[in-house]
Amino acid sequence: MPYTNAVIHEVQRFGDIAPSSGSHVASHDVTFRGYFLPKGTIVMPLLHSVLKGKAYFEKPEEFYPEHFLDSDGNFKKSEAFIPFSIGKRSCAGETLAKMELFIFFTTLLQNFTFEAPSGAKLDLIPGVGSTNAPKPYEIRAIPRR
Ligand code: HEM
Repeated sequence: MPYTNAVIHEVQRFGDIAPSSGSHVASHDVTFRGYFLPKGTIVMPLLHSVLKGKAYFEKPEEFYPEHFLDSDGNFKKSEAFIPFSIGKRSCAGETLAKMELFIFFTTLLQNFTFEAPSGAKLDLIPGVGSTNAPKPYEIRAIPRR
């Protein structure tokens, strides 16, 4: 299911729910892109700058599942897909979360058609906070059988 997989990846990229990862500390002196970071420096990587980076995605500010599809419609991986962060301290629940997202998403779509109530306006700008959570909204879930 390449398109479904691409949509789920795009939901995570566009949703950008954890715009920065946790605080990390340089375990030894390091020079990164010309900046010297002494051992003990607190580092907060901004995942947002990669997930919404123009250098990595064709239409970073749009919901565009084609970011994860090649020209033949096959699923295309992106090294810039890092909603779970990267490195030794990346999300310990990544495999479980991906499995849950796939099962929940496909089960919901197999059983319901989702649509906006007439006249509803969907505001995609997240509420203010350390995570990007959606604002409350109304949606109609119509059973498929
Ligand atoms: C869509 C769902 C999820 C997203 C986007 C997510 C994202 C993240 C991010 C960005 C971090 C910070 C990594 C860093 O500091 O570099 C993190 C850490 C962590 N996550 Fe998740 N997470 C998700 C679901 C889960 C689930 C389901 C579990 C457990 C069942 C989990 C367990 C953890 C743990 C234990 C850490 C700390 C890892 C460490 O400090 O070594 N996460 N997650």
